[in-house]
Amino acid sequence: MKQLTQAFQVEYKYNVFFTETLFQEQNPTLFNFFNGFGQKNYKKKILFLIDEQVINCHDYLRSDIPNYFSKNQCVELIPDLLILPGGEGAKNDNHTEKIVEAIHQYGIDRHSFVAAIGGGAILDLVGYAASISHRGVKHIRIPTTVLSQNDSGVGVKNGINFRGKKNFIGTFAPPVAVFNDYKFLETLEYRDWRSGMAEAVKVALIKDAVFFDWIEINSTLLMQKNKKAMQYLIYRCAELHLQHISGGDPFEIGSSRPLDFGHWLAHKLEHLSGFSIRHGEAVAVGIAVDSVYSNLIGILPKKKLDRIINLLLKLGFDLFHPTLIEKDKINILNGLNEFREHLGGQLTIMLLEGIGKGKEVNEMNFELLKKAIDTIQEWKIMQADNHNQRMLSAFPAPTFGINQKFQ
Ligand SMILES: NC(=O)c1ccc[n+]([C@@H]2O[C@H](COP(=O)([O-])OP(=O)(O)OC[C@H]3O[C@@H](n4cnc5c(N)ncnc54)[C@H](O)[C@@H]3O)[C@@H](O)[C@H]2O)c1
Ligand SMILES: [Zn+2]
Repeated sequence: MKQLTQAFQVEYKYNVFFTETLFQEQNPTLFNFFNGFGQKNYKKKILFLIDEQVINCHDYLRSDIPNYFSKNQCVELIPDLLILPGGEGAKNDNHTEKIVEAIHQYGIDRHSFVAAIGGGAILDLVGYAASISHRGVKHIRIPTTVLSQNDSGVGVKNGINFRGKKNFIGTFAPPVAVFNDYKFLETLEYRDWRSGMAEAVKVALIKDAVFFDWIEINSTLLMQKNKKAMQYLIYRCAELHLQHISGGDPFEIGSSRPLDFGHWLAHKLEHLSGFSIRHGEAVAVGIAVDSVYSNLIGILPKKKLDRIINLLLKLGFDLFHPTLIEKDKINILNGLNEFREHLGGQLTIMLLEGIGKGKEVNEMNFELLKKAIDTIQEWKIMQADNHNQRMLSAFPAPTFGINQKFQ
C-alpha cells in the first residue's frame, strides 16, 4: 500500500478597530491599515458595497469616501459606490451574482479589497460573494449595527439563506479587517439598538458572569441609548467572541457551536415569522426558552433563571412570538433538527448551568421544550393582563414573580 500525507496550517490574523468617523480625512485608521497591508509596489483597488439604509442615513459617505481616498492615497477607490437593500431580505433575494459581477467588472483581484458597510445581513452577503470570487477576494467589514459590531461582523462566517433556511449557503472566510465606527449607531432604529444586546447577554451567559453583572447594572443606561455604556458593551462582547473563535473551533469542524446558545430556536423563529423579527430579537426568545428548559431539566437554579428573564425583559425584549405555538409547537421544534443538520454529526446544544457557565447536551426532550414555551407564553399573558409590560419589566428581580412558576 502507498500513501501520501498532506498537512499544513494557515494562520489567520485580523484586527478589529474601534473608531469614530472612519472616513474623516484626518482619521488615520484606514490609511494606516492599507499602508501596512500586503504587497507594497502594487496599487490595490477597493470596491465599496453599502447598505441602502445606511447611506440614506449617512449621506455624507457619498462625498467623504471619495474625499478620504483622494487625500489619503493608499488604495485606488472604485468611484462607484454600490448600494444594496439592507436587512434580511438581502440574504433571501440572492444578490450574490450582482456582487460577483461587480468584482469582475471592476477588476478586483485577490490583492484588492471588497468592503461592505452595513448591518449583519449585508456583511454576510458581501463577505460570501467576495469569498467565492477568484476563490477568495479579501473582504473588509464596516459594521453599522450593534449586532454586527459586537458579534456578526467580527467572526469568520459569511452566508445567505436558501429555501427559508438561515445561512444554508455560505463560507468560512475571515475578513482582513473590521472597522467598528460608533457614529453609525446614532441612526439605528430603537429595535436595532436593542437587538444586538441579545448577543451580548448570550456570550455573557455562556462565558463571563462579570459581564452579565455589568449588563444588569447598566441596563437602564443601555436602554437610554447611553453611548459610553454601549461602546463598552460592544467592545467586551466583540472581545469575548474573538477569544472564543481563536480558542475553539473557528471553522466548526466538530459538532459543537457554543456561541450559538439560543440559536437553534432563533433561526427557526426568524424563518417562521417571515423574517419580520430581527435576528437579535429572535435570539432573546431563544435564550429565554433554552434557559427555562435548562431550569426544567434541573441544571439551572431558579434564581439564576429569574435574573436572566428579568434582564431580557428590562432590555425590552418580547420573549414570546405567536409562531412558537403553531401546529402544537411542531413547526418551531423542527428547528432543532435543522440546526443539527447544519452542523452535521451529533446534535449538540448549549444550555446553561449557571450565569457565565454553559453546558452542552446531546438531546432535548420535546415535552419539556413544549413546557418551556408554555411558560414563556404564560408570562406573556400575565404581562398582557397587567396592561403594562414596560412598567413591569422596569422592576428589578424578583418582582416579576416568575419564582412561583418554578417551585
Ligand atoms: N456571520 C455571522 O457569524 C453572524 C452572526 C450573527 C448574526 N448574523 C446575521 O446578521 C444578520 C443580522 O444583522 P443585524 O442585526 O445587523 O441586522 P440587519 O443587517 O438586518 O439590519 C437591520 C436593519 O438596520 C438597517 N441599518 C443598518 N445599519 C444602520 C444604521 N447605522 N442606521 C440605520 N439603519 C441601519 C438595515 O438596513 C436593516 O434594515 C442576520 O442575517 C444574522 O443571521 C451573522
Ligand atoms: Zn446570532
